[in-house]
Amino acid sequence: MTTQDEISAEIAERHKAYVADGVEHDHAARDFAPYRSSLLRHPRQPPILVDDPDAAELHGPVFGVTDVHPLDADLTRRHAGRPLGELITVTGRILDRYGRPVRGQLVEIWQANAAGRYAHPGDDHPAPLDPNFTGVGRCLTDADGVYRFTTIRPGAYPWRNHDNAWRPAHIHFSLFGTAFTQRLVSQMYFPGDPLLPYDPVFNAVLDERARTRLIAAYDHGLSSPEWSLGYRWDIVLDGPAATWAETR
Ligand SMILES: [Fe+2]
Repeated sequence: MTTQDEISAEIAERHKAYVADGVEHDHAARDFAPYRSSLLRHPRQPPILVDDPDAAELHGPVFGVTDVHPLDADLTRRHAGRPLGELITVTGRILDRYGRPVRGQLVEIWQANAAGRYAHPGDDHPAPLDPNFTGVGRCLTDADGVYRFTTIRPGAYPWRNHDNAWRPAHIHFSLFGTAFTQRLVSQMYFPGDPLLPYDPVFNAVLDERARTRLIAAYDHGLSSPEWSLGYRWDIVLDGPAATWAETR
């Protein structure tokens, strides 16, 4: 199996080539070899233009404001007891390229529990499940474009990209847009995580500044005494300060 040193060398080579190329990319590399499965699943053909893109809306999910309950944003109060782990508040604003708030936006998150295990049948990592934590939440942004979640800090987890591969702690985010075809998916990371330099998924974003924008800021003013720690992560939908999103 490929070693971490070999993966790290491949990452360094791609980052070096990106800088040498001098052309800014607003997207992650689609065929980023250190992230092995991206080689198999990135599109090899140009996108197909469809005659009637609105037809997708007839088959996509729909929601209304009454479908989203305020408690959906608190992942720590979905079961009889409190989940294990470090309680955190995650909040930020969703902005367009001009810094205007995006209001009423459906924001969905999913994440591993404090031990690094997803409550999902596909996760066979032998870390314990937490009966008090499912790891999914959603909310709508308010009039200032603000979303806010209460959850626990997810643990790092192993994956089989290469020998001794571990994902840094992260929370998956989805923004619905105004139609399902606009949906954006990204990941939020935690400041100071020692696994970030080793992670091929994080490093598939070739631009260093774009990678940095994926890392939340610890906000002590947002932390609550005797209760939780605060992290702030703004999402900019497009323009030069855009938050990177995964390929659709
Ligand atoms: Fe994940």
